[in-house]
Amino acid sequence: MSFPQTRFRRLRVNATMRRMVSEIRLSVDDLVYPMFVCPGKQVKEPIEAMANCYRFSPDLAAKEATAMAELGIPAILLFGTKEKKDAIASRASAMDSAVCQAIAKIKAKCPQLLVMTDVCLCAYTDHGHCGLIMAADAKRKRKSSPFATPAVQQYEGHIDNDSTIEVLASMALAHARAGADIVAPSDMMDGRVGLIRETLDTEGYVECGIMSYSSKFASAFYGPFRDAAQSTPSFGDRRTHQIDPACGRQGLRQMEEDIVQGADIVMVKPALPYLDVIALARHHFDVPIAAYNVSGEYMMIHAAAKAGLLDYEAAMMESLLSIKRAGADIIITYFAPEAAKVLK
Ligand code: PBG
Repeated sequence: MSFPQTRFRRLRVNATMRRMVSEIRLSVDDLVYPMFVCPGKQVKEPIEAMANCYRFSPDLAAKEATAMAELGIPAILLFGTKEKKDAIASRASAMDSAVCQAIAKIKAKCPQLLVMTDVCLCAYTDHGHCGLIMAADAKRKRKSSPFATPAVQQYEGHIDNDSTIEVLASMALAHARAGADIVAPSDMMDGRVGLIRETLDTEGYVECGIMSYSSKFASAFYGPFRDAAQSTPSFGDRRTHQIDPACGRQGLRQMEEDIVQGADIVMVKPALPYLDVIALARHHFDVPIAAYNVSGEYMMIHAAAKAGLLDYEAAMMESLLSIKRAGADIIITYFAPEAAKVLK
């Protein structure tokens, strides 16, 4: 018998053959574009750390969102920035926040575009944490423990879970009242999905969906975003609530729990360093799986292309394809408008 007998190259012989046998296809329908909004009028302010990204006032956000819809992108994800910050994130649930105004303006101009909103307190607290900091007297009310050595206290975490989820629920409600189609909690507090679902239902917003950032890892790849949202914590980090990068199985458990609590879509974030988690999620769950191709993943390709090290468009499309191949149904990406143009 002469070798090679099996010739894989037969299926790669030309572009038409490759097109016919391709296992997956990336489509503009898979993409969600994240957008940053800020208070004011006629504001389009470049974000230094993130190429081609801007903070838009609600009026210009509506214009930009319409341009996204015209490219065929089905959904955008809104982040609030530059609101007045305080200890209790007052502006997060204000009906006149930039996010609420932007939702209303976008839905008025472009009703078929799905509007998703990020629900987290980190851009609204003066300390930059995703939740409320436990007051010193609340800690004192705890039963004193003979073992409450400083080493034990160190593991308690500063962020108070149960008061935070109340604020998150009112923030989600404000967004739903303004017209959001889907709210997306990204804070990683326990029990927030259930409380948000209950609050939306009680208030009559039964059709507002929840896309939960269920499997959100404590990642270094959020760096550029924190500049955009001005949400770098003033002390400490997010490791008491975001998942340790070494714990993929915890990511699966959190997705399972969020589905039980009423999440319609669950997310893995970041995307490229966690393709294994996306693949496992696809295998385990039947709800749509979203993956967030985060700011650091986006800017790495920009920086490498700028340094002449790789082909920008090819690297962008290969990243997005990999995320889809791993099993994501929805890809949230700053590349969305550029990818949409390539896919046309
Ligand atoms: C808010 C939030 C973050 C991102 C999305 N929502 C930052 C963080 O958790 O620090 C990151 C998005 C990105 O990097 O593109 N909590």
